Amino acid sequence: MKHKIYHIVATDEKNGIGKNGKLPWHLPGDLKFFQRTTTETQNLDKMNMVIMGRTTWESIPEKHRPLRGRVNVVLSRNPDYKAQGAVVFGSLEDAITSADENIETIYIIGGASIYKNSIDNANLTGLYITKIHKTFDCDAFYPNIPSYFSTITQLGNGEDENISYEFLLFER
Ligand SMILES: NC(=O)c1ccc[n+]([C@@H]2O[C@H](COP(=O)([O-])OP(=O)(O)OC[C@H]3O[C@@H](n4cnc5c(N)ncnc54)[C@H](OP(=O)(O)O)[C@@H]3O)[C@@H](O)[C@H]2O)c1
Repeated sequence: MKHKIYHIVATDEKNGIGKNGKLPWHLPGDLKFFQRTTTETQNLDKMNMVIMGRTTWESIPEKHRPLRGRVNVVLSRNPDYKAQGAVVFGSLEDAITSADENIETIYIIGGASIYKNSIDNANLTGLYITKIHKTFDCDAFYPNIPSYFSTITQLGNGEDENISYEFLLFER
């Protein structure tokens, strides 16, 4: 089965995405965009899959995980790792292969190591990037975007507490 596979990420002006295992900002409008984009399906009988690294999984408050309405997949190299409500895989390839006809779209939702490992993947369809127009103190970064993701669509924009941002979709 060949699914569309997207990154979805919010980056600051210097490609910063995280600090101390957490998001450096609180942008409710972006969280809503994330929730809507990763949950909605054209076919109401299907669900989307969200794939994340173990650190990103652990950064989600327990009451909010698994992310509801989506098949949650966590990547860990520890074969004994358990994530309640999620499926654990030891590699991105195994996670992607596990998606059957009940899955509509696959969203890779971070963090830094997973984005870096998959940005060059030939099967990556596109990148949903929320560009935040501000610089934060970050220790985790999004990789450089390959130049073949050259079609850029502005899907909308938003502002929370004087921090403005825009929703961009990069495609090949
Ligand atoms: N701004 C955004 O949109 C956004 C989105 C998501 C995350 N973030 C931020 O990103 C930061 C986390 O990034 P991170 O790089 O530290 O952690 P991460 O990518 O979330 O998770 C890293 C862990 O995933 C597992 N892993 C990584 N690559 C793997 C592979 N190829 N196969 C199997 N398992 C693999 C390993 O788990 P084990 O150690 O268990 O083996 C590794 O320690 C946080 O600050 C978070 O808030 C930001």
